[in-house]
Amino acid sequence: MAARQRDIFLTGGEGDRYFRRNREFYSDKRLADELSSAAALYSKYIKPGDRILEVGSSSGVNLASICRATNCQGVGIDPSGEAVSKGLQLFPELDLRVGTADKLEFPDRSLDFILFGFCLYLVDREHISRVVAEADRCLRDGGWIGITDFMPDVPTARPYAHCAAVTSYKLDYGRLFTAFPHFQLVESACFNHTDDRFSTDPQERLCAQVIHKQLSEGYQRI
Ligand SMILES: C[S@@+](CC[C@H](N)C(=O)[O-])C[C@H]1O[C@@H](n2cnc3c(N)ncnc32)[C@H](O)[C@@H]1O
Repeated sequence: MAARQRDIFLTGGEGDRYFRRNREFYSDKRLADELSSAAALYSKYIKPGDRILEVGSSSGVNLASICRATNCQGVGIDPSGEAVSKGLQLFPELDLRVGTADKLEFPDRSLDFILFGFCLYLVDREHISRVVAEADRCLRDGGWIGITDFMPDVPTARPYAHCAAVTSYKLDYGRLFTAFPHFQLVESACFNHTDDRFSTDPQERLCAQVIHKQLSEGYQRI
């Protein structure tokens, strides 16, 4: 049986290899003083004191920038132990832990904002519905989901460039939440790997989405 992608990242070293390939970016403390356009979009929905979780946070550099801009409390999980150790050195204000999207070690309704930081395309298909369920369980009523990921025109699966045993699954992940009436898409912005412009190549198109959770909405009362 093929190994699970989660385990390839968590115990097979692929998470650490991602971190080492991109060490320069994820070790640059100064980047936490700047907000990317996606981070600026998410920050609009975060209030001082809110508890925000980034899933797939690497060293937490993006999370730290959001926390500095909004005065929120940041928690990050990533399968890379090396990324988490580096992040704890760089950003002692963050609570960073080794973990994966399919099992969130947080109480029910305890988080105000859950950001999937460009990691859903790496999740095993047999775990993706559990990932949605875990986020829904941990997010409070009235909270927000942020998703940064690929946004192709149709769902696609292609080999991950850095490891033959891993597949990149590209699709509109927001739809997995908005299939439920209690999740509503609020705002989205498309960009590409190098700048904020729309990519006409659907395989290179990325998108940041903000989704609101409101348990009392979405149903017509009859
Ligand atoms: C493309 S990087 C994005 C890192 C960071 N969020 C950013 O936006 O720069 C993807 C990250 O997801 C992590 N990852 C891979 N599989 C994961 C999983 N099942 N759950 C959570 N994170 C995962 C990787 O270790 C890596 O740090």
